[in-house]
Amino acid sequence: MSNTQIKQRSDYTFKHNQTKGRHGWLRLTPAYSVKIVREVLAQFNLPLKIIDPFSGTATTALCAAQQGHQATTVDINPFLQWLGKVKTDFYNPDDIDLAYQQAEQVLFAVSQGKVKAVAPPPIHNIERWWNPLALTFLCRLKGGLDALLPERHKSTNLLLVAFCRTIIKLSNAAFNHQSMSFKDIKQTDISENLDWLENYDNIYRTELDAVLTTALNNPQQPSQIIGGDARHLNELTPTKFDLLLTSPPYPNRMSYIRELRPYMYWLGYLKESREAGELDWQAIGGTWGIATSRLLEWQPKCNEFAPHYFTEILDRISHANNKNGVLLSNYVAKYFEDIWTHLKAVRKVMNHGGQVHYIVGNSTFYGVLLPTERLYADMLNALAFKDITIQTVRKRNSKKELFEFDVSGRWF
Ligand SMILES: C[S@@+](CC[C@H](N)C(=O)[O-])C[C@H]1O[C@@H](n2cnc3c(N)ncnc32)[C@H](O)[C@@H]1O
Repeated sequence: MSNTQIKQRSDYTFKHNQTKGRHGWLRLTPAYSVKIVREVLAQFNLPLKIIDPFSGTATTALCAAQQGHQATTVDINPFLQWLGKVKTDFYNPDDIDLAYQQAEQVLFAVSQGKVKAVAPPPIHNIERWWNPLALTFLCRLKGGLDALLPERHKSTNLLLVAFCRTIIKLSNAAFNHQSMSFKDIKQTDISENLDWLENYDNIYRTELDAVLTTALNNPQQPSQIIGGDARHLNELTPTKFDLLLTSPPYPNRMSYIRELRPYMYWLGYLKESREAGELDWQAIGGTWGIATSRLLEWQPKCNEFAPHYFTEILDRISHANNKNGVLLSNYVAKYFEDIWTHLKAVRKVMNHGGQVHYIVGNSTFYGVLLPTERLYADMLNALAFKDITIQTVRKRNSKKELFEFDVSGRWF
């Protein structure tokens, strides 16, 4: 890491994931906040061409467009492509008024029993997610949205985002951890909460209001949201970029498909659990369902990046006193092989002098520290990026060794 500068920064505070917060859109990672994006963008005066190869909920694109930059983002998840487009679209007051009117039409039709409810989505153990009344309401509301607004227009899309927020609002799932858990089902027992049913449409109205208020402030500057695999970034866009700014998946076994599956099932992006496993296997860092068994058989395709300290870490993880040691060692090896492939593609889409910023978190596996930031910096170095810097962005949680970093470099 001879070319790498290491700086500490302590002016960030830790906030919990605000999936249920005031923000009008859906949030994925607490780490990658608007604040971080704005701080990086503040270093530049001129309008830039910006790429985020791991778009998620399109935070980069939205912030970039708000500051007059031209953003392109990529995500492998079709639901997030849709959400990214909706989130970065421009809405005039007529679009917003139409959305309010359409919502009232749908809610009225639902209350009058004039629309056919959709079948509950095939989510495993669905009764853990929603109590029977909430599920009935959601099936009717989705039936109403589908029947009255069969085409996906701008306003319909906003109604569907509000629907997504409502399914989480009404669910027993708690999203305040890295991984989701379920509240005690008794908290939403029907007999104790009869008045909930009457309030469901108001909950939907509140969520819609948050979405529409946010949407009205969207910038006019359009963003390009592309579906595809960041490992083949150069095949997805002919454009060359001045800045790459992203928060990739961390090597921490978080599955975005697992986290997003309620939205994906309800909106028809997933039809059965096997599809979820397949999608997770395509995603970098996916280990859920079928991906887990495939990892056990996984063999490295290339050994182009294998510094001694890294092979030692893999060895220590695989020999940890745990039955999943080999699985997790393969997981980490595959994660960095995928990121290596991605970084090779990045070189082909950067302008001369273009900067890359990766906001990443380190992890531990059975007490073995995985220095993600050092590995990113060393990979950039090995791929001939210059001016490589690691900045500590903030502490991640109560575990004293876990941090988030901004690993940056420049392509010449
Ligand atoms: C940490 S999240 C990005 C969060 C985002 N910055 C935000 O503000 O919501 C990582 C994203 O990478 C996506 N992803 C995983 N593997 C990918 C791949 N091979 N190509 C493109 N996107 C991928 C996931 O679907 C997920 O949305």
